[in-house]
Amino acid sequence: MRIIENYSLLKHNTFHLDVKTRWFVEYESEADLQRLLGDEYFMSQTFLHIGQGSNLLFLGNFNGVIVHSGIRGIDIWKENDGHVWLKAGASEDWDAFVRFCVEKGWGGVENLSLIPGEVGASAFQNIGAYGVEASDCIEEVHTYHIPTGEKRIFTNAECKYSYRHSFFKEEANCGLYFITHVIYRLSKQPEYILGYGNVKSRLEGMEINLQTIREAIISIRREKLPDPAVEGNAGSFFMNPYICIAHYGALKKQYPAMPHYPVDDKVVKIPAAWLIEQCGLKGKTLGGAAVSTKQPLVIVNQNHATGTDIALLAEAVRRSVQENFGIELRPEVYSVA
Ligand code: EPU
Repeated sequence: MRIIENYSLLKHNTFHLDVKTRWFVEYESEADLQRLLGDEYFMSQTFLHIGQGSNLLFLGNFNGVIVHSGIRGIDIWKENDGHVWLKAGASEDWDAFVRFCVEKGWGGVENLSLIPGEVGASAFQNIGAYGVEASDCIEEVHTYHIPTGEKRIFTNAECKYSYRHSFFKEEANCGLYFITHVIYRLSKQPEYILGYGNVKSRLEGMEINLQTIREAIISIRREKLPDPAVEGNAGSFFMNPYICIAHYGALKKQYPAMPHYPVDDKVVKIPAAWLIEQCGLKGKTLGGAAVSTKQPLVIVNQNHATGTDIALLAEAVRRSVQENFGIELRPEVYSVA
């Protein structure tokens, strides 16, 4: 177990904010974690479990304990003719896990290539892209319940997955469970999901297999999204909003070209990127923060931004979309005070 006092989180958040935490603790095994949960001092502190910090906005220094899992490993949990179930440690790099599955010829997560983060976070947030969500392949999530120190295994249904949401993100449960492992169910005869955006056209003239799909997704992402290694960011800052049909009908008269995706017969999803662009906010800056010119749903650390710069710019975006469209944008990024 690694325990460090007054530790910089610069390498632990993809906005590249140089904030400090009072304590940084990294456990390497379940035994380590159990020891941590039995520690009176630790349990009396404010703590926050992070992955790679690819969905976090630190507003300042953190006066508590930042916890990180060091649990690694990808093992075959079980297998039959059609499927293989992999047990992956929470701190495995997400894209390395995807690459591993693709190289083995096991399908299901290839559309989630190049998403920053770790395996544990994939199950916490239900990451998604190009028509696939992590929850489509998750069989079980192995956790520890912090207040009691007991191990608890969640089935997929118990995780209550929906768009970028899970049981673990619900207000009543947030921070109460640490994820140690995720069981993923991959397919040996994968069905390819190519219906989103330009995935299919990117593959035109090529043989379609897991590897070429992964390469196509990576090239689309590199083209469309700012690279956090170059310009700090946390991917989409907001979720795409759902609005009711009546609201959509009224807006459609004013904006006939408004893109939309029907969710069911009552609800329509509108791309937040389009709303933000229509508000004229593409490229808008505040302090060192900027609305990305590549993809306006992303806020970037353009020039030594502080967490406050980013939060204030996000608030200006939220207010402008609310005023212009009467649509409330909800952040996907979690702000830590
Ligand atoms: N759009 C614009 N202007 C732009 C870019 C996009 O108007 O500059 C509009 C277009 O109408 C476009 C639509 O937004 O068709 C959708 O854009 P895109 O396909 O880039 O996807 P998104 O809805 O903005 C979502 C996820 C991304 C994920 C992509 C691909 C959310 C909040 N974001 O973005 O996830 O990679 O779809 O599946 O659902 C993330 O969560 O961090 C993330 C990057």
